[in-house]
Amino acid sequence: MSKIHNRVSEQTVTFTDNRNGNNWEFPIISGTMGPDVIDIRRFYNDTGMFTYDPGYTSTASCESAITYIDGDEGILLHRGYSIEELADQSDYLEVCYLLLEGELPNTSEKSEFINNITYHTLLHEKLNHFFQGFRRDSHPMAIMCGVVGALAAFYPYSYENSEPGQRKLAIHRLIAKMPTIAANAYRYSKGLPFVFPDNSLGFAENFLHMMFSTPCEEYKVNPVMANAMDRILVLHADHEQNASTSTVRLAGSSHANPFACVASGIASLWGPAHGGANEAVLNMLMEIGSVDRVPEYIRRAKDKDDPFRLMGFGHRVYKNYDPRAAILRGSCHAVLEEVDTKNEPLLELAVELERIALEDDYFIEKKLFPNVDFYSGIVYRAMGFPISMFTVLFSISRVAGWIAQWNEMTHDTIQKIGRPRQLFNGSTPRKFVPINRRAGLKHS
Ligand code: SDX
Repeated sequence: MSKIHNRVSEQTVTFTDNRNGNNWEFPIISGTMGPDVIDIRRFYNDTGMFTYDPGYTSTASCESAITYIDGDEGILLHRGYSIEELADQSDYLEVCYLLLEGELPNTSEKSEFINNITYHTLLHEKLNHFFQGFRRDSHPMAIMCGVVGALAAFYPYSYENSEPGQRKLAIHRLIAKMPTIAANAYRYSKGLPFVFPDNSLGFAENFLHMMFSTPCEEYKVNPVMANAMDRILVLHADHEQNASTSTVRLAGSSHANPFACVASGIASLWGPAHGGANEAVLNMLMEIGSVDRVPEYIRRAKDKDDPFRLMGFGHRVYKNYDPRAAILRGSCHAVLEEVDTKNEPLLELAVELERIALEDDYFIEKKLFPNVDFYSGIVYRAMGFPISMFTVLFSISRVAGWIAQWNEMTHDTIQKIGRPRQLFNGSTPRKFVPINRRAGLKHS
């Protein structure tokens, strides 16, 4: 991948400080697609000022070749391939390979990759003891944060002398072990025995087998469910520099162990403004309860004084329909057909809520469309997952994107430790006051 730092750019932008007429010129750099960037790496050095962009709404944090999103057109590409084609014609492990290697695998590359993942799905037996330390009612995302982070204790990874084989092994272990850890977290909460991975099964099929089979009798994974699960994993695999991916990159920029970096990504994904939204959508639909209450919740979502937001709607980047939501809506129908709940009231409610919202001027003006989390929860519930497992499913898939972005960053020769600055508006220097003379001190 070409590097920005050795590109000479003739195009520049000039900043003028109208307080003193000072001018500064900075290069404009273009990628292969999407907005150009203003290279401001010298900005503080040249101007003595910082730029200010809380939430990074206008900031490119890195150069990447993995995923491209056009929020206005509702386009999502992984290494140039559309999410629609990948969801239709590819599978999760093939998308993992694509994200990591930059190309779709040929037959032998695919079979080697599948092997590498399959033969790392088993957990170290001592790791299985970690689950015993949690309360039975622990949120499974808390267990994921703890147990995935603990992988660092089993696979010490020293960044400085990480030869390629060690790095690849860490990547394979993370992709391979997430489903096993997730299934164990669920089974622990139910007081069920852990089910070992079955190397004869596909990735999604194996996960459903570990989740729902019982040692007491033969269990056959429903192929419709396995296909739906694999498609959902494809849809959630990567999404440019979202909050959890940026968290993994920032943790990785200090050369932290990749297992610890992914644990930080899981923590960030858990938030209801991010991956936790799928759980929040289901809770919201159940709270709304019926179509006749939808107008009340639409009104609340528009009320600035009401903290309620329509979960599963809106997106930092998509100002059009999230392409993944459209595909997931289709998966809803296939899965509900299979479990014979064609008239799942929550789906009917979701479709009606979407229709009303998309006709409302507030949502139209603010370009608030359903995002990937709006329909996923309905599919998960129909597949038999408890609501608390919804974001865990998101993390099983997103580990591919996190670790591909981590890998890209660690190969980037210009990457430095991430260290943002601030606009300081606290106390100016003041003398210390001994406690016996603080009586009249005002507290700001
Ligand atoms: C994911 O970044 C990614 O790529 C994430 C993700 C991925 O794959 O990694 O796509 C996964 O996280 C999807 C998003 C899931 N979250 C939700 O569904 C939670 C509900 N949505 C919102 O919290 C919100 O839309 C965000 C967090 C998703 C985006 O927030 P932004 O970009 O910071 O936008 P904003 O909060 O500034 O909102 C802009 C305006 C505001 O009104 P004004 O202040 O301009 O008057 O839109 C309003 C907001 O109040 N608004 C909503 C709303 N979302 C935004 N109003 C009501 N309901 C909503 N859901």
